Amino acid sequence: MSSQDIPEEKHLPSEQGDAHHGAVAVADDPFADPGMPAHRPRIQDIDEAAAKRSERTVALMFVLSMLSTIGFIAAFVTIPIDKIVYIFPIGKVSALNFSLGLTLGLALFLIGAGAVHWARTLMSDVEIADERHEIAAAPEVKAQVMSDFRAGTDESNITRRPLIRRTMLGALALVPLAGVVILRDLGPLPEDKLRKTLWAKGKLLINQNTNEPLRPEDVTVGSLTFAQPEGLEEEQHDYMSQIAKAALMIVRIQPEDIKDKKELEWSHEGIVAYSKICTHVGCPISLYEQQTHHVLCPCHQSTFDLSDGARVIFGPAGHALPQLRIGVNAEGFLEALGDFEEPVGPSFWERG
Ligand code: FES
Repeated sequence: MSSQDIPEEKHLPSEQGDAHHGAVAVADDPFADPGMPAHRPRIQDIDEAAAKRSERTVALMFVLSMLSTIGFIAAFVTIPIDKIVYIFPIGKVSALNFSLGLTLGLALFLIGAGAVHWARTLMSDVEIADERHEIAAAPEVKAQVMSDFRAGTDESNITRRPLIRRTMLGALALVPLAGVVILRDLGPLPEDKLRKTLWAKGKLLINQNTNEPLRPEDVTVGSLTFAQPEGLEEEQHDYMSQIAKAALMIVRIQPEDIKDKKELEWSHEGIVAYSKICTHVGCPISLYEQQTHHVLCPCHQSTFDLSDGARVIFGPAGHALPQLRIGVNAEGFLEALGDFEEPVGPSFWERG
């Protein structure tokens, strides 16, 4: 289209020489508001019998939802976990999983379907135009909103239709029970497992490299020895969880270099035994600086001073490494004189 084809009134302002006014001559609104379509009453609006039928349909869905929730609980309690059934076209499935999924799915679906049917057939469907306004509402607008909300509540008939109200409340109240019941599948409570390790009075300290009981003369100044409790075997099914709590590191320090009085009491001739599990987030500590008696966790560089109660001297760890009280038995082997007196490993859960 050439400039000659453009109608006179549609020329841009600059072309008309009136750009300084900043206004554009606009033809009559090309997108006139078509307005609201005329409201067409539904059958339920004019026929009370049809409204009653819809009400019963909605109530039926809520009642079926309640039954499905009860079915979920019954399935959870009665169906054995190892029962397999054939379901066409899925094939062989766990009867318990299938029943739980089906009943819980139905319970939720029926609540949703009931609410949608209620809204589409019984709640008011009169369209309302809402003019745009500023986000911060004036007090009178807020009052209007509350008044509209109350009007909406009235129009939903929730007060006039107690059958729907009660069955809906019943369905909504029951459906969370399904979530409560499956909490039981979270497994047994940890009880004191996080606070106890395999160490106990009389348990020998076993060298993790040689698998032999340690004698004091095996631990030389400057060396770092890793030990585990007597009786713990790699073949045990819970070996990893037990060693993760009971892993020990042993060093020998000249008794006169030990600054902490309790540490000295719990040692044997300068041999001290500490948990190897970092108190930050539980990495195994493996780096020993023999001149300073510092041990370093490789994960986030927490550093502990083994000559001063294994207190934290650097890094994010929250508290000192737990010490194991040790002694020597009648045969001359190093033994524990009890369990750790505080939980080993990350400290955030016990300090909360
Ligand atoms: S786990 Fe040891 S410093 Fe983070």
